[in-house]
Order: sequence, then structure tokens, then C-alpha cells
Amino acid sequence: MSHAIVTRGLEKRYPKGGTYAVQGVDLAVDHGEVYGFLGPNGAGKSTMVRLLVTLLRPSAGTAHVAGHDVVKDPAGVRASIGVALQDAAIDPLMTGRELLELQAVLHGLSRRASAPRGALLLERVGLSDAGDKRVGEYSGGMRRRLDLAMALIHEPRVLFLDEPTTGLDPSSRLLLWDEVRRLRDQGTTVFLTTQYLEEADQLADRVGIIAGGQLVAEDTPEALKAQVGHPHVHVVLTNAADRERSLQVASAVGDPRPGVTDHCLDVSVQDGSLELPALVRALDDAGIAVASLDVVRPTLDDVFLQKTGAHLAEEAVA
Ligand SMILES: Nc1ncnc2c1ncn2[C@@H]1O[C@H](COP(=O)(O)OP(=O)(O)OP(=O)(O)O)[C@@H](O)[C@H]1O
Ligand SMILES: [Mg+2]
Repeated sequence: MSHAIVTRGLEKRYPKGGTYAVQGVDLAVDHGEVYGFLGPNGAGKSTMVRLLVTLLRPSAGTAHVAGHDVVKDPAGVRASIGVALQDAAIDPLMTGRELLELQAVLHGLSRRASAPRGALLLERVGLSDAGDKRVGEYSGGMRRRLDLAMALIHEPRVLFLDEPTTGLDPSSRLLLWDEVRRLRDQGTTVFLTTQYLEEADQLADRVGIIAGGQLVAEDTPEALKAQVGHPHVHVVLTNAADRERSLQVASAVGDPRPGVTDHCLDVSVQDGSLELPALVRALDDAGIAVASLDVVRPTLDDVFLQKTGAHLAEEAVA
């Protein structure tokens, strides 16, 4: 088996024959890879996950997960995967422990084996103390961790997480990232969708950017960012009157252009950290007073902007 997930020309139209939610997507996700599927609301992320986990039937194209065809062998796919959906319904009156034990039994474990398995998973996602609380009383972060534990009950080789950290506070998000990294280190393939640039950048080995149902870019976060260009140094001068001279001075270090206000200039450089000291020295030698200097590196939002002409999210622009 060459890849954990392979799709060829995968499509889904809602309603039948209507508009494309997923259009002509070709993917090849390696074993043991964390693949981040990054896109804004309505891009087609959940539709893609539902196609891959056999909850939706493709309108066209093919998909194989863990070597099984999603249309011809959905049972084979389901036996190999764990899924935490974005909008999964959970009985709020059950406790976390009860839900995990039920899930274990549904996956064929004996009643006797389900209790220790449930306890182990509660511990793994940091919910041991909350295991006997009703799920209706869980916080958003606790719910997401329980979703993850439920998806892990049968030790799947391929794990699908649909926006696992949406709405979580930063520390809960970091906890979930750690868990995903640990799973990856154990050899689990993780396909996760996200609207967060930072999440795709920090967590994913490779990122696929989806917009309007189409895959518009795909690579490692580093390679994607390198495609949009070099970093620049944003310089704010103390005196606007120095700008002409500072542009000349900075041209010895990089490729300067005037900034948006007359106090500013942006100096395009190769690396950023290498040129910064030289730029500080050059401006200082010329007697030009500087209020601030910042290295600005391309982000995945710049990639998104370049590919689609729009920003990914408010978060990205802020
Ligand atoms: N059951 C459905 N019937 C009709 N259209 C649908 C259905 N489900 C999704 N769509 C449409 O398909 C497109 C993709 O939706 P999808 O839920 O896959 O996006 P998403 O990337 O998961 O968005 P979000 O970040 O908001 O979860 C949207 O235009 C959506 O309105
Ligand atoms: Mg979705």
C-alpha cells in the first residue's frame, strides 16, 4: 500500500448535479503524516472528510483510505479509521467514561475489556478526573478531547479530525496539538481540517489549501511560504525627513521600497535574521534615528492571498 489516503478527481455536488462542494481533488497522504487541510468556512473541508470516512458517496472520482476503496469497500475503510466529526451528536446525559466504554463495545471489545480501555483513553487525553461527569457539563475543550479519545478507541491507523480545535482557548489548543504529535510519532496518519493558519503551520507536515472545493496549493508549510517570497524588514523612522536617505542606505543590505506612511520603509531581504544587524549598523552609521525594526516573514495567509485573491480569515489579518 503506497499511501494512507489517495484521491483522484474526487468530487461532491450538492444537491445531485448542483454546485460543487468538492471539485476534482487529487490527494496523496503518506503513512504517518499529519496532513492539514486548511480553508475558510464553506471551502469543502467537512465534505471532504465525510467522503473519505464513507459518510457521503462521491459524485465522481475515486478515494482510497488505508488501501480500501471508499465506495467498493466502506467496511474496510471504517475498520481502519478513527473519526472526530465537527458536529457529532453526543448524549449529554452520559458520562465521558460511559461513552468511551460504549464506543469500545461498538467496536467489538468485550464488556470486560472496555472498562480498562476507556480508563486508559480518559487518562491519555487528560480527562481522568472528569470521566464520571456528564458530558453536558464539559467545556468545549473537554468535549474536543473526549471526541479525540472516542476516535482512538480501536487504535486506528488513519485518524480524521474535522476542525479539532475550533473555539478552543490557546492552552487547550496546545494540549490537542501535543496529542496529535504523539499519535504521529507512533505512526498514526492524521488528516485534520482547520481554519487556523497557525495550526496548519505548526502542526502539519504538509498543508493542502482548499478554497471553493478545489485544492489550490499543497506542500510543506515552509515550502508554501517560500513560494510567496522573501521576508522583509519593516523600518519605522523617528523622522520622516530621513526617508530618502534611508532608502539609499538600505539598498546596500536589501531591496528597499517606501512604506505606507512617510515614516516607514520595507526592505526586502533573503533571510531576515542575517541582514537585520547590518541594516541597524548602516542606518546608525548614517546618523538616521530608527523608532523600530521588525522582520516580517510570509505566512500561509500570504499563500492563500496569492492563490485566491482573498485573505483566509480575520485572525490572519489581525
Ligand atoms: N448537505 C448539504 N447540502 C447542500 N449543500 C451543502 C451540504 N453540506 C455542505 N454544503 C455546501 O457545500 C460547501 C462546502 O461545505 P463544507 O461543510 O464542506 O465546508 P467547510 O469547509 O467544512 O466549512 P466550515 O469551516 O464552515 O465547517 C458549502 O458551500 C456548503 O454550503
Ligand atoms: Mg466544516
